[in-house]
Formats: sequence, structure tokens, C-alpha cells
Amino acid sequence: MAGFFVALEGGEGAGKSSLLRALGERLQGRGREVVLTREPGGTPLGERVRGIILGQDDAAGPLAELLLFEAARAQLVATVIRPALERGATVLCDRFGASSIAYQGYGRGLARDMVERANAIATGGLTPDITLLLDLPVEAGLARRAGAGGANHFDRSDVAFHERVRAGFLALAAEDPGRWRVIDAARPLAAVIAAALAEIEAAAPA
Ligand code: TYD
Repeated sequence: MAGFFVALEGGEGAGKSSLLRALGERLQGRGREVVLTREPGGTPLGERVRGIILGQDDAAGPLAELLLFEAARAQLVATVIRPALERGATVLCDRFGASSIAYQGYGRGLARDMVERANAIATGGLTPDITLLLDLPVEAGLARRAGAGGANHFDRSDVAFHERVRAGFLALAAEDPGRWRVIDAARPLAAVIAAALAEIEAAAPA
């Protein structure tokens, strides 16, 4: 496909949303269309699914939760990401399939190969050209999130859960260094933005 697909991944409070906006501003006007989106969400259906998952009081079981994320992902890929890549756009997505491997697989304990199969069905095999992992110690991320007052359903999970998620992301990054870049997100946002931009510019086609 003509475009370039960047996913941002990481645990709670790593600063992905701020980074996404900043990268969007800096990449605009460099010749390519830039599309910013997020998971779960990014489509009307996906935003409704997001409300179901993150707003719930009676938690869905791990498999139901996985399939809700996959439904949102299928809609996002089909109606936003694939068409944008076909137009030649640079797509920046806040979370993608690796979040399901880290959260529902490593975190919730679903078999990793099942999560990977579900991802492949939802995406039709589409994978990011590059994934930036914003890595941060769990306690620091949860403290940032609590300070911002935006705790969601997952932020209230125990620290051990978030440690498994972090380990999952780091394992994925170590397995595929050609497509993953680990960025130290404990630094000030300006340094994180500079590091992320440098990685994208080094990996993107001219
Ligand atoms: P959000 O408020 O967007 O958190 P963040 O800013 O950290 O991305 O909520 C998304 C939550 O959903 C987050 O806790 C991670 C979780 N999630 C999964 O568990 N599996 C997934 O496949 C995706 C996309 C997100």
C-alpha cells in the first residue's frame, strides 16, 4: 500500500495521546496527508464499543472483552485505516493489535496465539510499518494517570496486571526489532516527541 502506518503503544499514562497530537502537527504539511486515529474508537461504531468496554461496571469476561476490541478494530481498519493507506496517507494510530496481545493476552491471560488469530481476522492481516512503544515504569504511569483524574476501567486493575502488560509489550518489541522502537517515556514530553519523530523519519519512505 502507498501510505505509511505508525502505531503508538504503551501502558497507562505513557503520554500516547499527547504524543499523537504533537506528531500530527509536526508531520502535517510535509507533503503527505496525515490521519490520526485511536483504538478503541476512531469510528462511530468503535466509539460506542469504547463506551461499552471502558464504562462498564460489570466487567466483561476476557474473551468478550477481546472480541469487543476486535469488532472496533475491524471497523476502524475497514473504514478508516485501509482507505487512508490506499490514498497514500501517513496513519498514526493510538494503540493497535499489540494492545490486545499485551492486555488481553499477557494481562488477562488469554492464549497469545488466539489473540493473534483474532487480530489477523479483524485486520485482514494489516500490521503497522512501525510501532513506537512508549515505555514507562508501571507506578509512574499510574501516578500520572491518577494525577490527571482520568482513571478508566483498566487503570483500576492491580499493579501486577499492568506489570504483565508492560512485560508483554517489551517482549513483542524484543521479538521484532525491525518494526518496533522502544522510547523511554519517563522523559519530558518534548524529548519523547523528538525521539518519536526521528524514528518515524528514519523509517518512512521519502
Ligand atoms: P484509554 O483511555 O484510551 O487509555 P490510554 O490513553 O492508556 O490508551 O483506554 C484504552 C484502554 O483499553 C487502555 O486501558 C488499554 C485498553 N485496551 C485493551 O485492553 N485492549 C486493546 O486491544 C485496546 C486497543 C485497548
